[in-house]
Amino acid sequence: MPTVTFHKQGQTYTDEVKPQTNLVVRAGIRQFPYPNLRYECGMGKCSKCACRVIAGAEHLPPPNWKEKKQLGDRLEQGYRLACQLWIEHDIELAQDDLPAPATAPAGTVAVIADSVDA
Ligand code: FES
Repeated sequence: MPTVTFHKQGQTYTDEVKPQTNLVVRAGIRQFPYPNLRYECGMGKCSKCACRVIAGAEHLPPPNWKEKKQLGDRLEQGYRLACQLWIEHDIELAQDDLPAPATAPAGTVAVIADSVDA
C-alpha cells in the first residue's frame, strides 16, 4: 500500500492509501487527505489542487495536457495536479498557500512582514 505524506501550512499528515488512489477523489469522500487538501473541480481545470512533489516523482507518469496547460513553468519546479494523479507508490507532497490574489499589489506581504520585524 502506498504511503502518502502530505505537508500543508507547516503540518505533516501521513496515511496509507490503496494503489491507484486519486487524492482528490478521496478528499471528496472525506478521507485522508481531507480536510487539508485544497481542490475544486477535480478535472484538471482550476489548478487549486496543485502540489509540489517532494519525493516519489519518478514513479509518476509524465504530466498530461491538462497539467501542462494549468501548471506551465511550475511543472519544472515539481508541481503536479493532484486530481490528475493516481497514486501507485509512496509519495511526498506539499501544498503551498495560494499566491496572493492578482488584485493585491505586489510586495504587500513583504511590507507587512517587514513592519512586524521592526
Ligand atoms: S481540482 Fe481543479 S485542477 Fe485539480
